[in-house]
Amino acid sequence: MQTPSIIQLPKFLDDRGNLSFIEENRHIPFKIQRTYWIYDVPGGERRGGHAYNNLHEFIVALSGSFDVVLHDGEKEMRFNLNRSYYGLYIPPMMWREIENFSTNSLALILADSPYDETAYIRDFEEFKSKKHAG
Ligand code: TYD
Repeated sequence: MQTPSIIQLPKFLDDRGNLSFIEENRHIPFKIQRTYWIYDVPGGERRGGHAYNNLHEFIVALSGSFDVVLHDGEKEMRFNLNRSYYGLYIPPMMWREIENFSTNSLALILADSPYDETAYIRDFEEFKSKKHAG
């Protein structure tokens, strides 16, 4: 079963600073077709508030911190992301919101499909009924 999971990424530390990286189908369980990032989020704002029918994502806090709040139709799970060497894998059909952005935080999101508005479910009740319909 596909479940949300925190994935730790490689980390090379030396006197010159740190380096981490992500390879598709190795560190994350999908091929990357799109990368987007969320930044300059005003204090108190939230992003997301939707689910995807069939889209896999991986979210990394490249800078700062924020909370990713997931709902699987039954229960809520909260993940605080605050390091650039780990991220959260999110399988399809999870309701997700991102909140508590710290000042200057930067959310990097890798996705397995190009942007397509028809992939979104933007109504929570519709999400729950689709989820329960299996
Ligand atoms: P939206 O998905 O509502 O952002 P969030 O999930 O963070 O609340 O996207 C905001 C706008 O950006 C919306 O008009 C669609 C557009 N957009 C793209 O064109 N391509 C993309 O890859 C993404 C994620 C959004």
